[in-house]
Formats: sequence, structure tokens, C-alpha cells
Amino acid sequence: MPVITIAQQKGGAGKTTLAAQLAAALAGGGKRVALLDIDPQKSLSAWHARRKDRIAAAAAGHDLGIELEESAGWKLGAALDRLRKSHDWVLVDSPPHAETEARQAVRAADLVLVPLQPSPLDLWATQPTLDLAAAERRTARLVLNRISARGKLLETVRGEIAKGELPALAAALGNRSAFAHSMGAGLGVTEYEPRGQAAQETRELAAEIAKLLGA
Ligand SMILES: Nc1ncnc2c1ncn2[C@@H]1O[C@H](COP(=O)(O)OP(=O)(O)OP(=O)(O)O)[C@@H](O)[C@H]1O
Ligand SMILES: [Mg+2]
Repeated sequence: MPVITIAQQKGGAGKTTLAAQLAAALAGGGKRVALLDIDPQKSLSAWHARRKDRIAAAAAGHDLGIELEESAGWKLGAALDRLRKSHDWVLVDSPPHAETEARQAVRAADLVLVPLQPSPLDLWATQPTLDLAAAERRTARLVLNRISARGKLLETVRGEIAKGELPALAAALGNRSAFAHSMGAGLGVTEYEPRGQAAQETRELAAEIAKLLGA
């Protein structure tokens, strides 16, 4: 049903991490989740391949509810339509440039998530994606990623977000090694370390998104 496109021109902001972590959290809540990887780097596909290997090794016999497709070009629209019909959530991981495909994925989205690290440069880099979402009349939300409890930067960036009346989710992900470690294991933090802080943050993020979309 809902399509969430994760987009941000700045490389390394956390798009792929967010896609995988949200997918694992939603699948863990019993939802049928599909991932669409439209980034030629195919990092999300690499995560998914590792996940499949892991599950095959454990002989669990299923892939914990997450399907992944790669798509590009003229096939993208059809892939999105198909996945939307057969899943509760579709998450699209896009490349770090506003290419034609990213634009198409923004156009098809019920929600555009724009991850950013808490720095003014990252915040400025979100503007083209917010503009693109606005031009396509899509709902967009900034998601703060890699925040640390200490440090003035978060305060500064939250202040700029408030001053600019930019749309941002209240939930944010901390700068935690569990996010990277779980990715290496083909898992999400909710599976890798379900009682950890990273898992708690991810569940809160998923819940806020579900509430926003009424899903
Ligand atoms: N919350 C986090 N805590 C710790 N490390 C993180 C977090 N989010 C992302 N990372 C790390 O930051 C790096 C970049 O993250 P990621 O690949 O998800 O970004 P991206 O936006 O998809 O990058 P690209 O633009 O290249 O596709 C990775 O090494 C990832 O493990
Ligand atoms: Mg990526």
C-alpha cells in the first residue's frame, strides 16, 4: 500500500540504512514489506542478499517477509504498481542524485523521507529534494540520522528546522554502531539487538511514519 521513497542528494546521509532498518522493523511487526532498489550502487540489494544467505543457512525457510527488487528506467513505474498492490509497505532506496528515476519514485510516493545528519551542510542539501517533493505535491519529512545526545549541532539544526518551518519527524536515529553492524549481518537492529536503543529508536520512527500515513 503506501510507497515511501527515501531520497537525499547528499551521499552517505543514511538512505540505505533507513530503508533497510525500517523494512526490518515493519516486517517484524507482521507487515508485508517490499524494497525497491533504484540505486546503481545496489547497497540495499547487497544487504538483502546477505539476509537471504543468513536465513538459508539458518534453514528458516522464509525471508522474514521482505522482498527486494531492483529497477530502473521504464520498468520502474510498473514495478512500483505491482509491489504496491501486493505489499503493506513499499520502500524505495534512491541514488544520491535527483536523476529521472529518483524523480519518478518521488512522484509515486505517499511519503518522501529525507535523511540528514545534524549539520548545516546536510540541512542545506535537503532543499532540492524538498523542492522536488513540493513540485510533485508529495508529503515530505526530514529524518535526523546519526545524532548524538551530546553536542550543540543537533540543537542548532533543530533550531534551523524550526526557524525555516521545515517538515521534520520528531523521531530520529542516533549515531550507533548497531546500525552498521546489523546491516553487515543482513539484519535490522530490531532483529540484531531488539532490546537496544537503536531498535527502540527505529520502532519509534516506524510508528510515527505509520501514524502519519494512517497505516
Ligand atoms: N544512525 C547511524 N549510526 C551509525 N552509522 C550510520 C547510521 N546511519 C548510517 N550509518 C553509516 O553511514 C554510512 C552511510 O550510510 P548509508 O549508506 O545508509 O547512506 P546513503 O545515504 O545510502 O549513502 P549513498 O548516498 O552513498 O547511497 C554507512 O557506513 C552506514 O553504516
Ligand atoms: Mg545508499
